[in-house]
Amino acid sequence: MSRVVVLNAKGGCGKTTLATSLAACAAGRGRAVRLLDLDPLGAAVAWSQRRPSSLPPIRAVAADRVPLGVTRSFLLGAGGTEEVVIFDTPAGLGRPTIDLLVRDAAAVLIPVLPSAIDIGIAPRVVADVLLAGCPKEAVAVLANRVRARTRAYATLARFLDSLTIPFVAVLRDSQSYTAAAAEGCGIHEIDTAAAREERERWIPLLAWLAARGVDLREPAPSPAEPAPEAEAAATPASDAPYSEGGRAPPWRNPREP
Ligand SMILES: Nc1ncnc2c1ncn2[C@@H]1O[C@H](COP(=O)(O)OP(=O)(O)O)[C@@H](O)[C@H]1O
Ligand SMILES: [Mg+2]
Repeated sequence: MSRVVVLNAKGGCGKTTLATSLAACAAGRGRAVRLLDLDPLGAAVAWSQRRPSSLPPIRAVAADRVPLGVTRSFLLGAGGTEEVVIFDTPAGLGRPTIDLLVRDAAAVLIPVLPSAIDIGIAPRVVADVLLAGCPKEAVAVLANRVRARTRAYATLARFLDSLTIPFVAVLRDSQSYTAAAAEGCGIHEIDTAAAREERERWIPLLAWLAARGVDLREPAPSPAEPAPEAEAAATPASDAPYSEGGRAPPWRNPREP
């Protein structure tokens, strides 16, 4: 069982959007996935309830439905048979909970918005995760809701560059995410040109997750029937190892908004 924790002390930075899309992506790859919603507001559980039955199922569990006394094992993702457990967390999570969540997580993803307030908070979030005992190589930051060539994005890119942890994706401010969320699905389940373009931005993130043992990438086309377009897009991400140390993956520059 691999635990992926989406976390940031700041609300509205895209934790639920990322956690739900990631869960949908995992389910679409045939993985048994559980989505643990630690936010009492229950947005991730509500999303799962909107999910059409025609799509691969996701077991979403609300934190407030956890029986008394099992909170610790719940926070450790125990009590299920799923291969991938994704945690959607609320803003302002306390240190004891962060400690439990991140210590043995396969991956901790921190979405950050290109705004001065969010950038100002991010170093403390990263510090909290590292102080909780999470190995540095399990933590990644991604920029979310980026609009091309804005000054706010340039500031965020400079900040992300200054971190010594990987900066694994730049997700655009895109209606595709809101549309997907409204339908109980993820960005990988929407068949529009905009969503397809946005999925390209997930390639370095999925490659980084794969290097952490959570491989949610699309399988490469079989050699017998190569699909030239898909092959061109998939090969660099699946073959190149992730470069550690806060540098951009070599096959794609995620800093390009
Ligand atoms: N990349 C994005 N593009 C457009 N809207 C987004 C994006 N990410 C998040 N949102 C929207 O921003 C709002 C806050 O996102 P949400 O995932 O609920 O944040 P959090 O869980 O961190 O509070 C939601 O309305 C969501 O639809
Ligand atoms: Mg949320």
